[in-house]
Amino acid sequence: MGLGYRLVSRPMLGLQDSEKAHARAILGLKLMCSNPITRTALNLSYGPQSLKVTRFGAQYPNPFGLAAGMDKRAEALRGWTTLGLGFIEIGGVTAEEQLGNPKPRMFRSGGSKALINRMGFNNPGSANMAIQLKRHFARYGRPKVPLWANLGKSKITPLTEAPADYATTMERLYPYCDVFVINVSSPNTPNLRELQHDDALANIVAACNTVNQQQSQQLGVDAKPLLVKIAPDLSDDQLVAVVKTAREAGCDGIVATNTTIERPETNNARDQTVFAEAGGLSGAPVAARSTAMIHRIYELTNGEWPIVGVGGISNAEDAWEKIGAGACLLQAYSGFVFEGPSLTKSVVNGLNKKLKQSQFTTLDEAVGFSHRQSPRVDE
Ligand SMILES: Cc1cc2nc3c(=O)[nH]c(=O)nc-3n(C[C@H](O)[C@H](O)[C@H](O)COP(=O)(O)O)c2cc1C
Repeated sequence: MGLGYRLVSRPMLGLQDSEKAHARAILGLKLMCSNPITRTALNLSYGPQSLKVTRFGAQYPNPFGLAAGMDKRAEALRGWTTLGLGFIEIGGVTAEEQLGNPKPRMFRSGGSKALINRMGFNNPGSANMAIQLKRHFARYGRPKVPLWANLGKSKITPLTEAPADYATTMERLYPYCDVFVINVSSPNTPNLRELQHDDALANIVAACNTVNQQQSQQLGVDAKPLLVKIAPDLSDDQLVAVVKTAREAGCDGIVATNTTIERPETNNARDQTVFAEAGGLSGAPVAARSTAMIHRIYELTNGEWPIVGVGGISNAEDAWEKIGAGACLLQAYSGFVFEGPSLTKSVVNGLNKKLKQSQFTTLDEAVGFSHRQSPRVDE
């Protein structure tokens, strides 16, 4: 590991001052990828085997991607492909530039392998993001893997004007990104989660669909996939409603899940201090809830609607469970903080191994396997 570990892994693991360590890790990754020798070394150390999948009309070198929030400003695009990620989600990006909430706003519990954050969509705004992506593409070309954009709502925009806010960002990023995720589930923008419901969600999807049609015609490309990202804190009734609304409105799939506002039980004093912080919790404690939601969405949609599984993936076992529950693509954030840059290799190589040991020949065949092996009692 050597240099790679010192520049990338250790800062990610040592999140004492979580946000500074995060910035250092991104910078280290970016620097290492600017030199062909260190870039090759990084790829040789951390690059996974191939596990190609075709999703949303595109080829993915593997199904494991970077979750939103890790590279909010799209600063280390070459780094993520060098580490072997199958796709990259940048953002959340909002129409307006935002500083986010006051610091500190990111906290780590090593014992529980959990993070709490209340970042509040700190980001350069979609106009600046478009400029930066244009520059990056001119210099290095398009990323070698699909680039997704996480669309958030600007804090100053009232909920009633949310559709235009999301649509503006989508329009600005349209030439550069391959898939768009409507994020109505971050707990750190006041009342954002209200947008998960019925008309509010349908109106946002409709506004984004209009941009999608206009831009695809203008640029002479196919319409791009539009997904919705949900909270793990929805009740079953709410989940049923969101899935119905998003599907009927024309969303191409769903990302499950964002961070939770729930807190696990713990007797550990250090964990109790961290869990007392306001914000969204991610990492190991959210894994089971996120997988249960994937199960439920798969049931509700007869496995016909693509589900992207995210929440607490820190090894191939976690990833395989989400595939079994019905996810066809996977993402992680917190796993990189606790396991370091080797996470992709361990997950993707581990999935390859699981496939070989299973009766399935492709990952597609495996998606949703636990429904077929042990149908739930309420089916
Ligand atoms: C510091 C931090 C910032 C995040 N920012 C965003 C964001 O801007 N948009 C979003 O949809 N999700 C965001 N997330 C949520 C992650 O994308 C992911 O859904 C969640 O953390 C669960 O996955 P994990 O357990 O692998 O971290 C953020 C998570 C963290 C820890």
